[in-house]
Amino acid sequence: MAGTVTVALLGTGLLGAAIGQRLLEQGLGVQAWNRSPERLGALAALGAIGCREPQQALEGCDWVITVLSDGAATRSVLQRCDLQDQRVLQMGTIAPAESRELGTVIGAAGGDYLEVPVLGSRPEALSGSLQVMAAGPAALFEQALPLLKRLDPEPRLLGPLGAALETKLALNQLIASLTHAFSLSLHLVQSSGVEVEHFMELLRGSALYAPTFDKKLPRLLADNYDQPNFPTAHLRKDLLLFLAAARQRGLDTRGLRGLAELLSAAEGSAIDGLDYSALHRLTAKTAAWS
Ligand SMILES: NC(=O)c1ccc[n+]([C@@H]2O[C@H](COP(=O)([O-])OP(=O)(O)OC[C@H]3O[C@@H](n4cnc5c(N)ncnc54)[C@H](OP(=O)(O)O)[C@@H]3O)[C@@H](O)[C@H]2O)c1
Repeated sequence: MAGTVTVALLGTGLLGAAIGQRLLEQGLGVQAWNRSPERLGALAALGAIGCREPQQALEGCDWVITVLSDGAATRSVLQRCDLQDQRVLQMGTIAPAESRELGTVIGAAGGDYLEVPVLGSRPEALSGSLQVMAAGPAALFEQALPLLKRLDPEPRLLGPLGAALETKLALNQLIASLTHAFSLSLHLVQSSGVEVEHFMELLRGSALYAPTFDKKLPRLLADNYDQPNFPTAHLRKDLLLFLAAARQRGLDTRGLRGLAELLSAAEGSAIDGLDYSALHRLTAKTAAWS
C-alpha cells in the first residue's frame, strides 16, 4: 500500500514479537524473520509477512529493527544482509562496545545505525509505553522519531553510540540488585515467622520502597515464575554486561560480583527460562532449585 511505512523485524522472541504486534496494530507493514520460523506464526496471523531469510525481510523496507539476544547474534544476522542504504535500529541489550562496532560495520556497508535499547517489557511494548533510549547520529534519530513514537511517546537521544546502552545497563543493574535485595530480606522475614504483610506495610511506608517489590511479591510467595516476559538468562547477561562496562569505566564492582556468581551458578538450569524473579529460589537457604 502506497505510503505505508514498512519495517524489517529481525528477531521475534518475547520482546521482538510484542514490538512487531504493536507496529502492525499501528498500521505499519512488518516483514519479519526469526531463526526459529515457528516463532513467526503469531505475527503472521496478525498480518506480518514471514520471511525465510533476513535479507528477504529487508526487501523494500523503510527501517530495519533488530531485537536479538546479544551482540554476537545481532552481528551474525546483519552480516547476512545487504545493508547499503538501510537504516538499522538495534533494540536488544548488547555491550556498548559491540554497538559501536556494529555502527562501524554498518557504516562501512553503506548503511546507518542507531542503538535503541528499551526499558519495559512485553506489556509496555504492546501498549506503546516502552521507554526508548537512543544513541547515535542526531539526524538519524530525527528521522526515526515518528516510528519510535509508536513505541514510546517521548523517545530520548542520550548521546553518541554506547550512551544509550550504558544507560540501559545502569537501569538493568537496578532490576537485578533490587530484586536480589528484596528476595534476601523477604526470606529472612519468612524464616523468622513474622507476617509478610507486616513487613510489607513497614516497607511501603518507608523511603526504601520500590514498586517492583509489590509487582513481584505474588510470584515470590507462590514460587511461580512461569510465563516470563523477561527470563533469568537475560538478567544474568545484562548484569555481566554491566560489570564489564563498569570495570571499563574504572568502577569498583566487588559488591556486585556475588550476585553475578549466584546468577551464573544457575546457568543451564530450568531457572534460565523462568521469570527473573526466580532469583528468589537462588537466595533460598537450600540449593533445591539446582
Ligand atoms: N523481554 C524483555 O522484556 C526485554 C526487555 C528489554 C530488552 N530486552 C532485550 O531484547 C533482546 C531480546 O530479548 P527477548 O526477551 O525477546 O529474548 P528471546 O525471547 O530469548 O528472543 C531472542 C531472539 O534472539 C534470537 N537469537 C538468539 N540467538 C541467535 C542467533 N545466534 N542467531 C539468530 N538469532 C538468534 C532468537 O531466535 P530463536 O527464536 O530462534 O531462539 C530470538 O529471536 C535481549 O537482548 C534482551 O535483553 C528484552
